[in-house]
Amino acid sequence: MRIPLNSDSPHPLHKQISTYLQESIENGSILPGTKLPPRRELARNLGVARITVETAYAHLESRGLIQGLTGKGTFVLAIPRKTGRSLPKPSQQASTLWRGGGSFIDLAYGGGDPSLSPSHEFRKVLNSAWTNAPATAAKYLPPTGLMELRKAIQSYCGESGIMLPSSTPIITNGSQHALSLVFQTLASPGDVVMCENPTYAWLLRFLSQRDLHGHPLPSHSASPQEWYDAIQRSQPKFLYLVSDFTNPTGLTLPTETRQAVVSAAQKCGSWIVEDDYCAQLRYEGKTVPSYSALVRHQQTIYISSFSKILMPGLRLGFLTPPPQLFETLALQLELDLICAGSPLQLAMAQYLKEGYYRRHIRRLKTQYKKRRDAFLKTCEKVLPSSSQWTTPQGGLFLCLFLPEGTQVQDVVAHAAEEQIHITSGDAFFLQSPRPMLRMNFAAESQNRSCQALEILGEILRD
Ligand SMILES: Cc1ncc(COP(=O)(O)O)c(C=O)c1O
Repeated sequence: MRIPLNSDSPHPLHKQISTYLQESIENGSILPGTKLPPRRELARNLGVARITVETAYAHLESRGLIQGLTGKGTFVLAIPRKTGRSLPKPSQQASTLWRGGGSFIDLAYGGGDPSLSPSHEFRKVLNSAWTNAPATAAKYLPPTGLMELRKAIQSYCGESGIMLPSSTPIITNGSQHALSLVFQTLASPGDVVMCENPTYAWLLRFLSQRDLHGHPLPSHSASPQEWYDAIQRSQPKFLYLVSDFTNPTGLTLPTETRQAVVSAAQKCGSWIVEDDYCAQLRYEGKTVPSYSALVRHQQTIYISSFSKILMPGLRLGFLTPPPQLFETLALQLELDLICAGSPLQLAMAQYLKEGYYRRHIRRLKTQYKKRRDAFLKTCEKVLPSSSQWTTPQGGLFLCLFLPEGTQVQDVVAHAAEEQIHITSGDAFFLQSPRPMLRMNFAAESQNRSCQALEILGEILRD
């Protein structure tokens, strides 16, 4: 174990060791259950007296962070749950994308219902990719992706009224990969990125990792003028905007506010990074134009993927940059991963061309609409009147806001005892977090999610 020590520091060496270990345990770099090096060995490696390490370990033990077991060694303990509202940094939050399975009812998941994935149809197109184009399926593709798929996406978007910025799409490993490519290529430390508060948690993790400054956009209830003014004040280099049914709130910004956003972005010369992760899952209400459709501006990048609608395991998405950025992004993608997987690109092209995707969306919308309606009705019936929730017109998520002062982590822990997986909404807030849970109303069957809501209602009333 390499612990940086500074003999000129005013802090004694045992303090430097215990602080380093404490921080590593608290930020998750050293996991619970890890066996720490024996005192004598660590002292030898660090070039300090054994008593120095013993003092450091004794301090950590007194804080309940480690425990010595006779004959076995010294082990890191699970960090005690803090009383009071705890706000883990976004980077320390467990991801809600990965789904562990088991008997838990999962209202925290970041995707759709895997049991509704069209595995039969997809197997067909995958088989035919191997049968009809075995050589293409087996080889590298250009970094921008399989031309057949790029064209199929273009015509699908054209037929569906999705206006893409001018160039043909570049195929990525999902939209997260596309976002990462864009910011890696265009952003420098210190740049300002405006986004909603709350917003997609991964973006916030990315901003803090890359030293980008997040500035919050106004709330949905603010007027278009307030949005315009806020953008003018921040002069952001980037505006990160989710097309519809924002993750986590599920809300959609009205057209007039989008127009204000676009005008402000044009005035400031900001890049608009539009993340359309599930706009096609609309269950009611009028469609609103995407930012890319409103803007006639060379600084818009539209990003989308097949994850939320088809299956995230495909890891297929795309971005459409303006022409001046096309080569740079293609080069960066080639450096990152050479190209997205060939058989899946072939299969996806056929899936789109045969009309399977359109039919799948129709089926999914019918199912998810029923689930959303039942979920909202059950919220009304079983949740205490002190809680409030958003009412999305589509998508997968809604936000459940709990009264100020609620210990959300305690609610999460209590729900886990009842075999319900929910997650605190802290990771979605750029600033001023409110007690919140992001609830997935689509990934579980109607019965299971309503049953979980009933139990949650009882927990919240306790
Ligand atoms: C708003 C938003 N954008 C992007 C992603 C990433 O999706 P993928 O990389 O699977 O396309 C997610 C996943 O949760 C999301 O919610």
